[in-house]
This record gives sequence, C-alpha cells and structure tokens, in this order.
Amino acid sequence: MAEETPIYFNPWDPAFRDNPYPHYGALLAGPPRVVDAGAFKIALVARYADVICVMHDHEHFSNMGPPPPPEAYQGRLAGSRNLLGTDPPVHSQLRRLVSRDFTPRRIRELEPRIREIATGIFDGAERIGEFDVVKDLANVLPVTVIAEMLGVPVELSATFKEWSDKLIDAGNNLPGTPTPPDVIKTLDALTDYFESEIERRRKNPGPDLVSALVQAHDTGDVLSSADLLNFVSLLLIAGNETTTNLIGNGTLALIRNPDQLALLHSNRALLGSAIEEMLRYDGPVQSTARFPKQAANVGGTEIPAGAIAFVVLAAANRDPAKFPAPEKFDITREPNEHVAFGEGIHFCIGAPLARLEASVAFGAMLDRFPNLRFKDPELKPKYKGSYILRGIESLPMAID
Ligand code: HEM
Repeated sequence: MAEETPIYFNPWDPAFRDNPYPHYGALLAGPPRVVDAGAFKIALVARYADVICVMHDHEHFSNMGPPPPPEAYQGRLAGSRNLLGTDPPVHSQLRRLVSRDFTPRRIRELEPRIREIATGIFDGAERIGEFDVVKDLANVLPVTVIAEMLGVPVELSATFKEWSDKLIDAGNNLPGTPTPPDVIKTLDALTDYFESEIERRRKNPGPDLVSALVQAHDTGDVLSSADLLNFVSLLLIAGNETTTNLIGNGTLALIRNPDQLALLHSNRALLGSAIEEMLRYDGPVQSTARFPKQAANVGGTEIPAGAIAFVVLAAANRDPAKFPAPEKFDITREPNEHVAFGEGIHFCIGAPLARLEASVAFGAMLDRFPNLRFKDPELKPKYKGSYILRGIESLPMAID
C-alpha cells in the first residue's frame, strides 16, 4: 500500500491558525483522513468533490452534534435550537421564518443605508488622516447593519460587537475546560438584553427581524422561547464577524497582490468577481462540521458513525482539481464556484447581504483612497484567536 502523506491539522496551534494553507496540500492529496482525537474520531474532509458530497447529503450527515458537555455554560439558551444546528424538517421550518428578509431584492433595499454608513466611516478617516481597515471599517459596518436589521439602536452596535467577539472567542476554549466567567457574563448580558427587547417588540412590533420572530413564536409552535433567543443571537454573530473578516482578509489579499489591485482600479466592473475571489482565496469560514448518523463512505474513506466530520471549506477552495492555479489570487477567475458560503440546505442565508456590504465597502474605499497601501510596509498581520472564523485584528493603512 502507498505511504500516506503526513498531515498536520491543529486548530489550537497559533502558528497553524496564522497560516493553515500550507497544511491543506497534504489533505487535498488523497481521500478524507480519519484521526483519533481520544474521546471521538475526526474525519478531515478537504477535497472539493468530497466537501460537496458531504454538504449535500443531509440524510447521512447531520448538523446536530452531541449535546454540549456539562462544563459548557448555556444559560438561558440551554436546550434551544437554531438554523445551523438543526436538520429537516425543523431546519426548513426555521429557515422559512426569515428567508423572505434575506432575498436579494429585500437586501438591495438596504444599499443606500449601507452606503451612508460607509461614507460616514470614510469621512471620519479622511478628517483625522488615519484609517484602520479592520478597526474603523470592517468592525463597524457589518455589525451596524445587522443591529439595524434586528431593530437595535445604533448606539448599542459597539456593545454588540464586544458581545459577539467574546462569544466567538469562547469557541477557542480547549474541549473539556469550563466556560470562563467573562463568557458566562457576556452570554447572560446578551440574553438579558434580547429577553427585554422581545417583550418590548411583543407590545410594539416594528418592521425588524426580532419583531418578525416574536410574531412567529407567538402564533406558531415552531420556536420555543429559548429558540427565539438563540435565533436572534445567531443572526447577530453570523451577521457580523464573517463579513468583518471578508473585508479584512480581502483587503490584505488585494494589497499583497498589487497587479490585481491595479487591474481592479483600471476595470471596476471586476469588483463582483474580485469579491468572489477574496471569498475563495482566504475565506472567513475555514471549516464547518457535520455528524454522520451512520457509517458513510466519502471519496473512498469510511467515516464512522459518532465521528465529527470537519468539512474544510477553505481547503476545498484551494483544490487544484477544481481551481486551476489555486494559490494565485486572480480577480478575473471564471468560473469561481467556491464553497465559502457553504453548500446545500444550510447555504449561507446572509450571502446576498455579505456580498452587498463588501461591494459597497470596497467600491467606496477604492474611490476615496486610490493610493491605499499598508501604513507599515513590513506589516505582519496578527490573527484573532479563532481557526473556524479566520480574520485579522488590525490593518492600519496609509490613505494620503
Ligand atoms: C462573508 C460573509 C459570510 C460568510 C463567509 C458566511 C459563511 C457561511 C457558511 C459557510 C455557512 C454554512 C455553514 C454550514 O453549512 O455549516 C453559513 C450559514 C449561515 N449564515 Fe453566513 N456567512 C457570511 C455572512 C452572513 C451574514 C451577513 C449573515 C446574516 C445575518 C449570515 C447568516 C447565516 C446563517 C443564519 C446561516 C445558517 C443557515 C442555515 O443553517 O440554513 N451569514 N454562512
């Protein structure tokens, strides 16, 4: 039998998190690998065809993992469900509740407001002559938009961002360790806030998403009270950190590839395909997970029941069997059928919103700062703590 290429896959290793891409090559060289993680087995699914196969097969691959361990604090979300963690028929019922708020047509109506927020950010940067793409733009625009969609006052956006960051950080806790006290405090603060907002919307409904979900809870039996809280929290978190990282990672890719930046300046019609390439090349969601209900064969590997299938979307997006010259950042790439937004029934409901926010943000940024470059040409970006949601902490730019 041929020797298997050695693999290294360790989301808890900061060096791996900083640059996982060199490690994906070995995973892409063959069928999924099953590794023993002690209490359970992990199947690493990386090749494009294998990823598509798992993401489309929700009959065999569930989104419902084992119940959280007793040391993981759940607060008032205990026992609740959300879109990402359910299978049909519950998943389809939950998705229906919000799908009409995320249609491309509904999302397009938000464009003037998104542009207004972006303009305010660039005006501020121009006034003070300082601009950090992550801190000033990426950390502000998406959270403001999703907070407004949820009917949360704009003054609370910064608090929302703090809560969301803290809860995402909690995902980096080593398995088996208790939830840190500051995470418990954050989860309680978030659920306290939304509980009182839910009561307020019950009395005074508005055109926002929380009011729509409260109505669904009160008139149907799909959503329990805890589900309602969970749903709103998912929208808040999924709706900002991912787009934040698209803007940060995308700017990094553009500036590091000056030929592509120049091409985009000379042909702005390429903006849409440049954003698709940012998603493919260095996507905000590196990996997701599925749980085989029974043993299943994927690409020639038997994945045992009870294993966790790590579906490495970012590796699939660099699969040479699907993308010619996958390591090249090429804003003219066509076709570009990346899986950065997932695939199948859980395909990202926020994709039209993320694309619109990115296109407004990048379009306006290139207009306003045509000579955009790193403030420190030697910049070594520092990555945030999450492997799953990949993004940088800060990206100071020169804008003169
Ligand atoms: C660039 C930005 C974004 C990326 C890369 C992204 C990526 C993803 C991915 C990969 C999935 C599928 C996960 C899986 O199947 O396991 C997903 C699902 C989801 N996303 Fe996004 N997302 C982004 C922005 C957004 C935004 C702006 C929202 C808005 C509210 C959002 C809300 C959701 C929700 C609710 C789901 C669950 C859908 C379901 O399970 O049916 N996402 N996203």
